[in-house]
Amino acid sequence: MDREIVATCFPGFEDVLENEIVALGGKNLSKRKSAISFMGDKEIIYRANLSLRTALRVIIPILRFSAKRDKELYDKLFYFKWEKYFTKDRSIFIDVTGTTTNFNHTNYIAMRAKDAIVDYYRKKFGERPSVEKDNPDIKITLHFKNDICTVYLNTSGDSLHKRGYRSLRGEAPINETVAAALVLMSGFDGESDFIDLMCGSGTIVTEAWLIANSIAPNLLRDDFSFKNFKDFDENLFESIKKDLKSKEREFNHKMIAIDNDPKMIEIAQKNSQKVANSDSIKFIIGEFDSYKPDNEKGFAVINPPYGERLKPEGLIDLYKRIDFHMKRGLKGYSIGVITSNEELSKEIRMKPFVKKTLFNGGIECSYKVYKIY
Ligand SMILES: C[S@@+](CC[C@H](N)C(=O)[O-])C[C@H]1O[C@@H](n2cnc3c(N)ncnc32)[C@H](O)[C@@H]1O
Repeated sequence: MDREIVATCFPGFEDVLENEIVALGGKNLSKRKSAISFMGDKEIIYRANLSLRTALRVIIPILRFSAKRDKELYDKLFYFKWEKYFTKDRSIFIDVTGTTTNFNHTNYIAMRAKDAIVDYYRKKFGERPSVEKDNPDIKITLHFKNDICTVYLNTSGDSLHKRGYRSLRGEAPINETVAAALVLMSGFDGESDFIDLMCGSGTIVTEAWLIANSIAPNLLRDDFSFKNFKDFDENLFESIKKDLKSKEREFNHKMIAIDNDPKMIEIAQKNSQKVANSDSIKFIIGEFDSYKPDNEKGFAVINPPYGERLKPEGLIDLYKRIDFHMKRGLKGYSIGVITSNEELSKEIRMKPFVKKTLFNGGIECSYKVYKIY
């Protein structure tokens, strides 16, 4: 049976997430800030968790009510049939988001909600769920918009960027969902070469590899909260995983990752090897402009330093060199550049065909994609 489902993302990625949900078979999509809501069944919920590259969480609204006073809040939650979703043996955690002027503290709302839910179980079953902050079985969010409270059940649990392949981090790693969005927005579809010119811990190139081979990004991940739901259908889940595996394809072009820091290349290799054979991505220790592609079509993404390690003067030269290399060394390429430093990005003196403001780990960045003729 179809129900409302919401997939959340970082601000700026709504369009790319929308495309992914259409491809997944979601129906009646509607775009919100940092989220897409859509209709779908249990199968779509499992598929969304396993396959969406740019989503952070997949949540489902289970209750909506007007909450002007404490008693209303408690009663609505106390008289809800919670056992439809989870049993008394599950651990729970409740958080509160959004804004309301009806209550002073979100901590108080979370505490009252917890009281109502545990009282419900105690009264009906004689026992209550435990509350666990770290790694609860069931995550519940109360989202307030003025007087209206919507209760969401988180079907993912931990953020979906935790794919299970990145155990080692560089100094400024990019979030996996951001990396996937950058690759998708560059236009890369696995039909030509791809270069990550400053790969760091290898997140962008690994996400590009997953896209190139049509590998669902969360197949390696074990933990999903929907596995703790009362209606979890293991056979359905296993058959979806099998179906996703059967849709993987072989990438017949070159995938290159470059960094001038040998430590980073070592980390990137180790991380990517969890999803790709050791020789399928060519890792190069060297300057980003030392590799000259031998064909005239391809895609590249550059995530240069924004100023954490190099002094600004050094960075101006670096961005000038990026501009030079893009024009002279990467003819025929579509190249995406992400940076938080607008002044530095002006050193790339071309008109982008994609220009987006987005957030990478809370830092406002611009992402521009250029086509080099
Ligand atoms: C912001 S980090 C990239 C982070 C990466 N996307 C990740 O997920 O870990 C920038 C990277 O550029 C590399 N770098 C800086 N200057 C370079 C150059 N001239 N040539 C090649 N790599 C360079 C740094 O070693 C660093 O790993």
